[in-house]
Amino acid sequence: MTHENSLNHGPASRVLKRLHAAAKGDRLRFLGLAPKLAKGFILRQSFSEAVTSASMKECYIPISREQGEFLYITARALGAQNIVEFGTSFGISTIYLAAALKDNGEGLVISTELEPNKCAKAILNLEEADLGEYAEIRAGDALETLTGLSAPVDLVLLDGWKDLYLPVLELIKPRLRPGAVVLADNIFTFRKALRPYVNYMQSGLNGFSSTTLAIGEGFEYSVYLG
Ligand SMILES: C[S@@+](CC[C@H](N)C(=O)[O-])C[C@H]1O[C@@H](n2cnc3c(N)ncnc32)[C@H](O)[C@@H]1O
Repeated sequence: MTHENSLNHGPASRVLKRLHAAAKGDRLRFLGLAPKLAKGFILRQSFSEAVTSASMKECYIPISREQGEFLYITARALGAQNIVEFGTSFGISTIYLAAALKDNGEGLVISTELEPNKCAKAILNLEEADLGEYAEIRAGDALETLTGLSAPVDLVLLDGWKDLYLPVLELIKPRLRPGAVVLADNIFTFRKALRPYVNYMQSGLNGFSSTTLAIGEGFEYSVYLG
């Protein structure tokens, strides 16, 4: 029996269908950006600098459906009310998270995005999905927009530029409640860039128990033990 929820029924499911279809063009857009990215790496720019100078303003680069469904059920299992996301893009992952909050009964996803045009579109997409009241999109650099979070945080998604996963985690860590889950995307795609992050999470020295899940492009699943 299929249990009716915000992902398989109603406006959020329709908006997700449209956005995943639109994001399919990303692989071609990526190929077009490859020379600029390569130049950035030759010039020894950081990942953030290289991708910004390659101006990936139109790329969705979203999580997969499978990852979105995993985020949704994780947020439901935690009874999450306070979620933080690094890297909104056009709001695909934010919709999965906000849908879980709606189905949990209440809550807020605080998500942040560097590109103003993506912020504006994400807000429209969330409104169209009837989830506007469950998400706050903060425009700007996560290292500034995610300071001073107040509530105990239940769930975090890290999906911005890869060299910032650890600094952003350090910012949020004091707000995590024991048992909070931190999910980080692209562990397989950016194995080298994310090695320090994975080592930090898996060392057992930093308050986390962690494993890499073969979902999408590799999801690091970390539980904060306090
Ligand atoms: C992989 S995409 C996010 C995809 C999104 N989670 C989804 O599933 O639809 C990464 C996004 O992070 C944003 N970003 C990168 N560095 C950032 C920063 N320092 N602060 C805020 N956003 C940032 C980029 O502009 C880009 O849109």
